[in-house]
Amino acid sequence: MIVSQEAAHRARADPAVIIPQLFLSQGACMMAIPVSHGNAMNTASWAELNTVSPAYKQIVDSGLTKNLEELEAYGLTVITPEQLLEAGKGQPHIMDTAREAILRIAEERTGVRHDVDAGTHGMLSGQGSNDSQYLLYAFLEKDPIFEEMIAHPMTLPLIEYYLGASCQLSSLTCFIKWQNEVGYGEHLGLHNDSGLYRNGPLPDKPHVFNTNWILTDYTRDNGAFCIVPGSHRLQRHPKPGEGVRHAVPVEAPAGSVLVFHGNVWHGAFPRRNPGLRLSVNCYYCGPHFRCQEDFRGRISDAMLARNGDRFRRLVGYDDPWGFSDERGPVPYCQR
Ligand SMILES: [Fe+2]
Repeated sequence: MIVSQEAAHRARADPAVIIPQLFLSQGACMMAIPVSHGNAMNTASWAELNTVSPAYKQIVDSGLTKNLEELEAYGLTVITPEQLLEAGKGQPHIMDTAREAILRIAEERTGVRHDVDAGTHGMLSGQGSNDSQYLLYAFLEKDPIFEEMIAHPMTLPLIEYYLGASCQLSSLTCFIKWQNEVGYGEHLGLHNDSGLYRNGPLPDKPHVFNTNWILTDYTRDNGAFCIVPGSHRLQRHPKPGEGVRHAVPVEAPAGSVLVFHGNVWHGAFPRRNPGLRLSVNCYYCGPHFRCQEDFRGRISDAMLARNGDRFRRLVGYDDPWGFSDERGPVPYCQR
């Protein structure tokens, strides 16, 4: 343990200074915590401490503390278009560009021109497809806007706060949904996104987190996403039909982003209105879990270079596991 003589002297001389000696280790920076003698303790500088998640400082600096509070209480928060605009990134740039890209990819893959207002759509038969929707998979490399979305500074700090700074993108998908009275049926498709322990308790610390970028307005009759607020605290999967009467629609305008806890119960209402509902899911997992999608091998050097280290870790290029030669665990990008 290293405590500077100057700091030790200050602590002795001024009882209003506490040195967080317990958390000091070799090479770690040291910070004295001022304790207020007034009515309110000044904790503003605590976000700088190396014992606090670095993501928390980003959350504070980005004005996301209320969003963190909502995640704790409800298991979901909505980042508004105004918040994205204030942060200098987002509306209308992301929503407009992402919507155009999704419609282009959907047409390329189905051969049918999609129309958001008229509800014209094609169809693909992958997992999650039914009479009311289909999913697009594997499109990260199809438009640079998706690079921006997966590493967005208004969503990633909230996710890293729970999953850690080494979390990875598990998958990138898009739901294309149309008018259908049935949708997921009377159970609303309620589930949580944890892949763990179908019949047992889930850890209180989530291993996955999800985001839902809303590209068309969410209202109940537009087929909005729904959640059971607070259900992440139950730490288990819902039984069939359980939670339906407590499910609430998440009504938010296009350009908003939902960020939600991996244990929270969620689903969607059927779309009763004409037109299409479009949304993009950036889904994340802790570094010690398997990702759903393998991005490696599909991403160009130019894409890696323009996005930096965090992006490379997000898409698995710094992942040392899965080694297969005599050098042992080296990052995928160096093999
Ligand atoms: Fe889900």
